[in-house]
Amino acid sequence: MAEISNKYDETAKSIIYKGSCYDFVKTVPDEMVKLVVTSPPYNIGKEYEKKVDIDKYYIDQEKIIDECVRILADDGSICWQTGNFVDNSEIIPLDILLFPVFKKHKLKLRNRIIWHFGHGLHASKRFSGRYETILWFTKSDKYTFNLDPVRIPQKYPNKKYFKGNNKGKLSCNPLGKNPSDIWEIPNVKNNHVEKTVHPCQFPVELIERLILSMTNEGDIVFDPFLGAGTTTAAAIKNNRKGMGCEIMDEYYKVALKRTELAINGKLKTRPMNKPVYDPENPSVNLKYEESIVYQETLFEKKQKYGVGHENR
Ligand SMILES: C[S@@+](CC[C@H](N)C(=O)[O-])C[C@H]1O[C@@H](n2cnc3c(N)ncnc32)[C@H](O)[C@@H]1O
Repeated sequence: MAEISNKYDETAKSIIYKGSCYDFVKTVPDEMVKLVVTSPPYNIGKEYEKKVDIDKYYIDQEKIIDECVRILADDGSICWQTGNFVDNSEIIPLDILLFPVFKKHKLKLRNRIIWHFGHGLHASKRFSGRYETILWFTKSDKYTFNLDPVRIPQKYPNKKYFKGNNKGKLSCNPLGKNPSDIWEIPNVKNNHVEKTVHPCQFPVELIERLILSMTNEGDIVFDPFLGAGTTTAAAIKNNRKGMGCEIMDEYYKVALKRTELAINGKLKTRPMNKPVYDPENPSVNLKYEESIVYQETLFEKKQKYGVGHENR
């Protein structure tokens, strides 16, 4: 069995295609994929994209979304994570722009998840952007949703009923609570354990929550715009199959490396549900930080890119 294949191969643990997703996706049979999760280029002129007219961007996105729907299993999900297209300080939220493409296929929107993060560029002509969204669609009403693996700690875990038939019993779920549709997860900045040379990579924790809740072990997870390989690495880490495409050689190599690290159980990640840093209580983070070993090789070129960018 190939561990990581460079072309579609049902027996591989992972498939990482070096090239355009528009070419690769044509080689994938219908209804093979359980979860498509991606953050496409936002058409804002990053080094990996050419800024084009917004109508052309829409047509290109529509082409890949059409194909993703074709390869999606009947009980599968698509999570399209986007921010804003920005032009002369005017914003167009890309989820609003692209919503009709998904509805054309009669997909069902289950959540519009707000990913809130604390850091980014500072705007001067409007309020600084500190969130992005994930549109979660399912292909049918018969979809996988596992809540237990992604529950988060209760605020008052030992709270009990104080009267009635249940007096003395726990009043909240001891497995934790539903994480809701607002997710506060730090974005990957230069001091983040997962930082690579890629300027706008997903935090692994964000993808893990989607993978654990929307797929089962052995399912295929696909990211057409793979970047630094966060999706394939997170899929492998959780015993799923990870498949993705990356057009830039530099990021393709990082994706390959991180997926290999995940296969060998050596991928370093920020732990799921680690509390967000609280300057008034910095010790909250210490017990995690002590165990973290930085991935030196992936850090080498980090200075080449900025800390973040508008709207990411
Ligand atoms: C927003 S980034 C994705 C980052 C990713 N979520 C991660 O965690 O690293 C979009 C990526 O899509 C890649 N890309 C752009 N056009 C592509 C295409 N046609 N096929 C495959 N990859 C493409 C870019 O090089 C870039 O790395």
